[in-house]
Amino acid sequence: MNESSRPVLAIRGLSTEVQTRRGVFRAVDDVSFTVPAAGKVALVGESGSGKTMTALSVLRLTDPGVRIVAGVVEFKGQDLLLLRENQMRHLRGSELAMVFQEPMTSLNPMLSVGYQIVETLRAHQKISRKQAKQRAVELLHRVGIPSPSTRVDAYPHQLSGGMRQRVMIAIAMGCRPSLMIADEPTTALDVTIQGQILDLFEQIREQDGTATWLITHDLGVVAGFAEHVLVMYAGQIVESSPVKELFRSPLHPYTQALIQCVSAVGVDGTTRHTRLPLVEGRIADIESRPSGCRFRPRCPRAHEACLEDPPWVEKAGRGARCVLLSEKEP
Ligand SMILES: Nc1ncnc2c1ncn2[C@@H]1O[C@H](COP(=O)(O)OP(=O)(O)O)[C@@H](O)[C@H]1O
Ligand SMILES: [Mg+2]
Repeated sequence: MNESSRPVLAIRGLSTEVQTRRGVFRAVDDVSFTVPAAGKVALVGESGSGKTMTALSVLRLTDPGVRIVAGVVEFKGQDLLLLRENQMRHLRGSELAMVFQEPMTSLNPMLSVGYQIVETLRAHQKISRKQAKQRAVELLHRVGIPSPSTRVDAYPHQLSGGMRQRVMIAIAMGCRPSLMIADEPTTALDVTIQGQILDLFEQIREQDGTATWLITHDLGVVAGFAEHVLVMYAGQIVESSPVKELFRSPLHPYTQALIQCVSAVGVDGTTRHTRLPLVEGRIADIESRPSGCRFRPRCPRAHEACLEDPPWVEKAGRGARCVLLSEKEP
């Protein structure tokens, strides 16, 4: 495979276990998917489905007590799970960037945003402090921060939530990464700003060829952004589909339910004023998942066959983990 057709990220059979007081549980269970070079892939699912744990496993930033037990995480052809910690540290923040929902990674409140951008640039590139400062101003300009040469000296608390997220993105894009992992990057922001932030990822892709792996619980956010969507439920990928087909004809009953929730309020995200109504029922706690199909207790189409583990059924570039797809329609 040549450089341009090779996916930037290829995850195969990734499984991650967490240790709790009651035992060891699989937060990420045999997850496989790819992010094409300069592509836009979204991982969607309710809170608790294992999205963040998947991202943290890829970045090898999981907590102690969390163990990656199987899988291959190929980033530009090399398995990240085999790298030494110092090699991994070098990749994070340079070729492999990340942006999280604000409260998780917030900026250091004691340091100006310019200083924080300069530090990251200088950690990965041989440039002088003066050059780095100049580049910081450029980056702030590129992420749409007004008067960047003044704002570069601002402290995080002097900026709005949306501006702070733009600074995070400026830091992430500083070294022209091949892949940006964005975990709920717009969740804390209002709807208008959400759209602007997603536009920004699109711009970065066009200008730098940076692929985006967007993680969100909100299928409405996905509609206007991603090319390919992965739906996660209780630690497993339950559907994988190009975005148009996903909305036109969702294969998995869980995806169908999610889409009904979104279409009740419009998928463009602009007409929405309230949180989405949730799919009826609750995602099973990691410690008490049902056997067989994990969505079974909430599924309107559940029947006896769903007591067995559902097969992964693929057709025409799409796939879903549901027995209905392998049964003949009556
Ligand atoms: N450090 C941890 N130790 C134990 N369990 C965890 C830890 N982090 C997450 N979990 C559990 O793993 C599951 C997946 O969590 P997470 O990946 O954060 O979900 P999501 O990002 O989809 O909301 C949840 O059941 C959560 O309670
Ligand atoms: Mg999460």
